[in-house]
Amino acid sequence: MGTLEPTLHSDSDEEDEDFVVEEASEKWKNHYSSNHRILLVGEGDFSFSLSLAKAFGTAHNLVATSLDSQENIGKKYSNGMSNVRELEERGCLVLYGVDAKEMCQHFFLRTQRFDRIVYNFPHVGFLFPETSHCQIQLNKRLVKGFLANAKVLLRREGGEIHVTHKEGDPYNKWDLVQKAEKRGLVLVQVVPFFKDDYPGYENKRAHGKLSDASFIIGDSSTYKFKLKTK
Ligand SMILES: C[S@@+](CC[C@H](N)C(=O)[O-])C[C@H]1O[C@@H](n2cnc3c(N)ncnc32)[C@H](O)[C@@H]1O
Repeated sequence: MGTLEPTLHSDSDEEDEDFVVEEASEKWKNHYSSNHRILLVGEGDFSFSLSLAKAFGTAHNLVATSLDSQENIGKKYSNGMSNVRELEERGCLVLYGVDAKEMCQHFFLRTQRFDRIVYNFPHVGFLFPETSHCQIQLNKRLVKGFLANAKVLLRREGGEIHVTHKEGDPYNKWDLVQKAEKRGLVLVQVVPFFKDDYPGYENKRAHGKLSDASFIIGDSSTYKFKLKTK
């Protein structure tokens, strides 16, 4: 009768050998590593988070968040819940109802520190015309609140906050870099953003009847900030 004993290490000569636990090798996707602990803020249909998870072969290092409730994700986005399911299967923690302007007080997030905090295309929604003073003020307030909160959740050693943002008018009126510098952050680098670098990523309008539609990314960049060292 066959035995169920594993044949590995059954040879007495090998008895003293230690088990070697091989760590999964580090994988990079542009600025992001599978060894980074990454917080994603203001996700739409969670396709950006999933794109990273697929590139890394795991999502254990990701915490993906949305301002929306779980119910709304299902209603707003055709792939929202299937993306969430796949992320969770890969080990991602998905959190709903996370406000970027208050997230450093979130009961779980406040206990955590991250190597990368990423917010792609922050926007409060189309409440007024895009170029109007009111709309710009609201978007500025969102970015300001996000930066102040992200700063608290950032790991001091090597931590970076990434904001991907459209270039040109009216987006350059949001004063992103000045806002960051005022909060003790330093601009490290500005790099052009290409959606194709993240297979599967679908940038979403996220508001109103066209929530599930994408918008033209055009000329956009990722702004990377770190904490100012004393
Ligand atoms: C233009 S959409 C971009 C969505 C997604 N990041 C993407 O790239 O497809 C702007 C996102 O900001 C989110 N948002 C607006 N106000 C927010 C807040 N106070 N906290 C967190 N997210 C917010 C919206 O829910 C929406 O998902």
